[in-house]
Amino acid sequence: METYLLDWANLLLRWLHVIVAIAWIGSSFYFVFLDSSLTTPEDESLRREGATGELWAVHGGGFYHPVKYAVSPPQLPGHLHWFFWESYSTWLSGFALFLVSYLWSPSVYLIDPQVFDWSPPVAIASALAFLVVFWLAYDAICRTLGQTKNGDAKVGAAVALLVVVAALLATSLFAGRAAFLLVGAMIATAMSANVFFWIIPGQRKVVAALKAGQPVDPIHGQRGKQRSVHNTYFTLPVLFAMLSNHYSFTYANPHNGWVLIAMMAAGAAIRQFFVLRHGFKLGRNPHPWKYAAAGVVVLIGVIVWLKPAPPAPVAARPAVSAAQVQAVVAQRCAMCHGEALQSKGVRLDSPAELKRHAQAVYQQAVVSKTMPINNATGITDEERALIGEWFRAGAPTE
Ligand code: HEC
Repeated sequence: METYLLDWANLLLRWLHVIVAIAWIGSSFYFVFLDSSLTTPEDESLRREGATGELWAVHGGGFYHPVKYAVSPPQLPGHLHWFFWESYSTWLSGFALFLVSYLWSPSVYLIDPQVFDWSPPVAIASALAFLVVFWLAYDAICRTLGQTKNGDAKVGAAVALLVVVAALLATSLFAGRAAFLLVGAMIATAMSANVFFWIIPGQRKVVAALKAGQPVDPIHGQRGKQRSVHNTYFTLPVLFAMLSNHYSFTYANPHNGWVLIAMMAAGAAIRQFFVLRHGFKLGRNPHPWKYAAAGVVVLIGVIVWLKPAPPAPVAARPAVSAAQVQAVVAQRCAMCHGEALQSKGVRLDSPAELKRHAQAVYQQAVVSKTMPINNATGITDEERALIGEWFRAGAPTE
């Protein structure tokens, strides 16, 4: 029952998480596009009011004409839209999801004794520390290097280095799948913290100053912009880290830290291409195809690198019997897929149940090698091959 309810919690939170993340990333992409596509307002009176940019767009049957005041508008409107719930609800649902899976069953998801053998409480505390320490280090980099000459480039390089170190550390401490998710969650936490600690408070200060009729300090807008630009480069890497943990060929590699780093770098480069494309359309910068090309080259390099080795030739042997496969499953799978524990509602402890799940068993244990999870029960390649032959022979029950 507990497993069944946890599976529901997992599914519903995942649903929510994806919906709110679409809302957040969607609005973030929109504002990056808007900001990079603004042109000087044509209307003289708008310029006199302090408007620094405008955009004309057609969408859904109507024409839109947003105008930007870089520092502050001449007066505040009656109703001002804020953008923060998209970000906060993405973090909250993501953290809850992390809690009901990885932190709830640390020995199943978080710890792989072949990577690092430690106790569940210490592993849980370290996973949480990853989220906090990354934010503190990243924030310190932005606050110190950000104010110096060529600040943006220095911050970019230091943050990239920080992510590399964190990815290598995570993959040498946690089960591959957990490590990928954790690196994604760590960067995503910094993204939400940017909104919570800098972008929104800065905007609140500007609004308060306007209401009090005081001059507005442009530093708040500049800081908010810096963090919001970082968030845009984080999106593609974070999404890769979160989604790739469903694909064991990425995280099960012995150098999985470098797989993650390479793919995140490819994601950031591809994002850079999209950001600069807006400026290119307005003739502000050359065509940024090099970034897309660099991203795709890295991606293809990783595809080639992770290519599975051809299967070793197996000596001819008598056709596999159902009893052999049932014995393997009883030894390697039943502890998590039996009467007591029915992970993901899958029971494999009778010939009929095993047959019913034959295709899923084949996919999980032979094709993707996701099961047994982190190979907790030490299944051998030989045993996987047996299951494969049994499935291809029509999954006989006897
Ligand atoms: C240490 C516990 C454990 C062992 C051992 C184990 N599993 Fe699983 N299994 C799980 C968990 C946990 C899930 C749910 C995974 C998830 O939510 O991503 C799961 C899910 C599955 C699923 C459903 C996958 C899906 O996404 O629909 C199948 C099929 C499966 N396991 C087959 C096997 C087979 C076959 C073996 C033995 C070769 C095995 N498992 C061994 C814990 C285990």
